[in-house]
Amino acid sequence: MLLAQLQRRAVDSIKRHALVMSLRSPRAQAAILTEYLWGEEGAESSALQNTAAAEAVPPWLGKLVARQLADEARHAQLLRARLAELGAPGRPPPALAKAKLWWLERACAPYRGAFAAGPIVVMLAVAAQLEATGVRVFGRHLAVLEEHAAGDPLAAIVRSILADEQRHARSCAAAVEKLVHPDEQAALAELRARIARVDRAFGVTIALGYWLLVASRALRDRTVERGEVAS
Ligand SMILES: [Fe+2]
Ligand SMILES: [Fe+2]
Repeated sequence: MLLAQLQRRAVDSIKRHALVMSLRSPRAQAAILTEYLWGEEGAESSALQNTAAAEAVPPWLGKLVARQLADEARHAQLLRARLAELGAPGRPPPALAKAKLWWLERACAPYRGAFAAGPIVVMLAVAAQLEATGVRVFGRHLAVLEEHAAGDPLAAIVRSILADEQRHARSCAAAVEKLVHPDEQAALAELRARIARVDRAFGVTIALGYWLLVASRALRDRTVERGEVAS
């Protein structure tokens, strides 16, 4: 548990520092928003799409997933619009972002047959973890903006995305509980621990890459401001 706490704290302080650095740098902000866009259009959406495409999805769950996917599309639109205002075209996701999903699928594979409701439980458990991570990410960003730059147009965007992610995290977790039988709770606890381990392991690596990217963009903008380079 101690390692888990250390990992979480390391990720939080590295990312918080990167966010503060980004405040006066359009290039650094664009780098951060691009990462969010990968999450919205990549990991978050594909976990939900896998759930929607699974066999025997109960109608209540089908509706919930469709609503959430519509929210994710709205988030992506908001981020793309802000990126366009910042003059930044989107970049394709790096291999590391895709590797996390691959590892999650691999780590969860032994549990696909562990629940009477089917592999859908595994997909939803992954979605619940990714949504909870989204709540932490957007919550951290909003806290930094409210403390240092409350008037930044990004604050309203992040606030609106955060409200949805909080709802998504709650409803995915509730849906998992609804599908899992009482005698499957131990298997669910193991599955959740595996998913959380993969999520945390990638957290530190991704956070360091993120810090370096944001720092290099912020530095470039500061250098340009001082007129030290031509562009
Ligand atoms: Fe989202
Ligand atoms: Fe979400």
